[in-house]
Amino acid sequence: MLQHDVVIVGSGLAGMSAALEICGQLDVAIISKVYPTRSHSGAAQGGIAASLGNSEPDSQEEHMYDTVKGSDFLGDQDAIEMFTRDAPEIIYQLEHMGCVFSRTGEGKIAQRAFGGHSHPRACYAADRTGHAILHVLYEQVMKQGKRISIYPEWYLMSLIIRDNVCRGIVIYDIRSGNFEVIRAKGVIFATGGYGRAYRITSNAFANTGDGIIAAFNAGVPLEDMEFVQFHPTGLFGQGILVSEAARGEGGYLINGKGERFMEKYAPAKMELAPRDIVSRSEQREIDEGRGIDGKDYIYLDLRHLGKEKIMERLPQVRQLGIDFIGMDCITDPLPIQPTAHYSMGGIPTDKDGHVIIDDKGTQLTGFFAAGECACVSVHGANRLGTNSLLDAVVFGKRTGIAALKFAKGPRLSDMKEDEVLAPVKERISAVFSSPGTESINDIRDELKENMMSNCGVFREKEGLNKGLEKVKELRERYKNGKITDKSKLFNNELIEVLELGHMLEFSEIIFKGAIAREESRGAHSRTDFPKRDDRNWLKHTLAYLTEDGIELKYKPVTITKYQPEERKY
Ligand code: FUM
Repeated sequence: MLQHDVVIVGSGLAGMSAALEICGQLDVAIISKVYPTRSHSGAAQGGIAASLGNSEPDSQEEHMYDTVKGSDFLGDQDAIEMFTRDAPEIIYQLEHMGCVFSRTGEGKIAQRAFGGHSHPRACYAADRTGHAILHVLYEQVMKQGKRISIYPEWYLMSLIIRDNVCRGIVIYDIRSGNFEVIRAKGVIFATGGYGRAYRITSNAFANTGDGIIAAFNAGVPLEDMEFVQFHPTGLFGQGILVSEAARGEGGYLINGKGERFMEKYAPAKMELAPRDIVSRSEQREIDEGRGIDGKDYIYLDLRHLGKEKIMERLPQVRQLGIDFIGMDCITDPLPIQPTAHYSMGGIPTDKDGHVIIDDKGTQLTGFFAAGECACVSVHGANRLGTNSLLDAVVFGKRTGIAALKFAKGPRLSDMKEDEVLAPVKERISAVFSSPGTESINDIRDELKENMMSNCGVFREKEGLNKGLEKVKELRERYKNGKITDKSKLFNNELIEVLELGHMLEFSEIIFKGAIAREESRGAHSRTDFPKRDDRNWLKHTLAYLTEDGIELKYKPVTITKYQPEERKY
């Protein structure tokens, strides 16, 4: 049996930040289903937030207030205060590691405007910020040599929890088809989000919620899963991210009548209102027939920015338009639509990444989570752009420190290898031995369409109930799924089958939470309950797996400085 003091699942910004805090003092390993530099953090484009005040005066308090308001008052304010306070130092640490941030004329880190932020706060590396930080952290990890073990292209199969203590994980080597148990004193999940359940998404193929479902099936509740963010600018028909930086640099949103329609919805902030508001405004224009030529998209117009600015600040946005839809934003407006982008919900944690399993703050010993798979909750019902990279680095680091402290204590638990491997092997052999008549691709496509139509930018009771029934039907059909590749080496079909199972599981949780929450808050917008209802719904959802299925409970929001008020932009 393999063993490490701390094992981290996920090699994006959160996972690598955590590993760097632990290495050298304890034995730490990173497991990743992709090669680390392919982690989805690398797809983040526009920036990482911090109140450096390099373009105009700014403060941590204003960053905190903007984040609380952006979250539609569902974010936990103690966590947001700490998160915004840690931000400037984190940026300077990244800079000192060698992150190539873009610069002002005076040589300071350049900062640009982003939705919902009251000052230019996004530190950026052109429009490849996630890529720049991911590679800098990877260099730091590589520099540690053998002090950090990496298992690239290993897939998480299960989380081992016994007597409320986390004892390790079971993983699958995609290259060889072999299973291994890793015993560990501490396990950190940094497994990212779950946007792939939607047909139109900016998420990488890997974002299938494997970590959150492994935790859920091991008895951990999931928090606020109904809050799925739609980013306002996905390339039409593809969903590929066109950074909000395009609007931060001055881009316009235009409807089929040639109007800058945000004037109607957010007159003060216009295109730089928070994402929930901009996505709803776009969708309303489209639904009411004011898309371009009455179709399902509107335009993002960057032409007035000019070639020089686009090439300097938005080179990747330009290239993505050319490569994926054959449009050059220097000469053409880009057809865009809202795209499923970010999971506000996930594994409940405290500010140091300890996983919390109830409304009383009870920790699950030895289990930690950070980054998008975790719900601290600093984003509440709606995340502000550029707060996600910050979340990953701030909470990755804090979680690494907490896991290090924890793992210096206990001894490794004893475990019977056969006992923990048996259910995993049974699951795989059930997949391989199924006579299967149902196409996995069809089930996946139907799931994605169902999430778009019944649990998208706008939701209402009838559609949600229909959507939930559809997920249940798909889960039944999935049991009879067909697999054609039964080989061991690099069996990507098997991985896709497992991932689909996870997507079906968490989609049911999203629907359940969304049906129950009879209000509109942040990204959860119910046309049948169009108002926020603080009296009944100023609370976090906790979804538990019980013998009778999914049970919903709730826990209070931590409010310190800012009482809920109407959000106006
Ligand atoms: O639009 C963007 O560049 C995305 C940033 C984010 O999600 O924080």
